Amino acid sequence: MITLYAAELGPSRNYHMLISALVPRPIAWVSSCGKTGENNLAPFSFYGGICGDPPLIGVGIARQKDGRRKDTAENILQTEELVIHLAEVRHLDSIAASAGNFPPEVSEAEILGLKLVHSQVVAPMSLDCAPFRLECRLHKHLELGNGPVDYLIAEVLAFVLPEAWLDQKARVKQSEINALGRMGGNLYVPVERFMEPRG
Ligand SMILES: Cc1cc2nc3c(=O)[nH]c(=O)nc-3n(C[C@H](O)[C@H](O)[C@H](O)COP(=O)(O)O)c2cc1C
Repeated sequence: MITLYAAELGPSRNYHMLISALVPRPIAWVSSCGKTGENNLAPFSFYGGICGDPPLIGVGIARQKDGRRKDTAENILQTEELVIHLAEVRHLDSIAASAGNFPPEVSEAEILGLKLVHSQVVAPMSLDCAPFRLECRLHKHLELGNGPVDYLIAEVLAFVLPEAWLDQKARVKQSEINALGRMGGNLYVPVERFMEPRG
């Protein structure tokens, strides 16, 4: 065994260790819009659930190299609304492409040929190709770490998904979700089979 002390590794190696250890990570494919209404789309995997009452999730958005906020963080702070799409295996190339460095006035969805549809309860548009969506409102904004990172805590206002994905108890049939996970480096993993503990 080897013990690597975080205090000795420095930011870049600590980041690498984190993204190798926190795997697989879910990917929030986030749609937001600024005050002028331009739609923005980008993926984030420093993302996780916080609690169910109310349904809260958190997304960690690092700053750009020059210290400016990423468009997603800027938009959400301006309008306090976002849509998180569950990333599926078939979305991989579009997800990677939507992480490109586009100016704020450019709609990544439009450039990538992804159809947008109106959301149910928030202003940012939803992706037609991503059927499981969380329509959210900003709950709290924290600036954390030395970056700092914009940690956005959002409350889910509506879960939007195909009715056929619900079983008789109104639970989501897990077999319907072809989830895509993020590993360390530039690697991804398809969720292809399920296991249950014995007994
Ligand atoms: C799968 C994936 C996950 C990512 N996760 C994060 C993340 O958790 N935090 C972050 O700051 N950037 C993350 N990025 C990079 C952003 O998507 C990228 O900086 C993007 O350009 C931000 O777009 P925006 O400026 O339109 O908000 C990720 C990229 C990919 C491809």
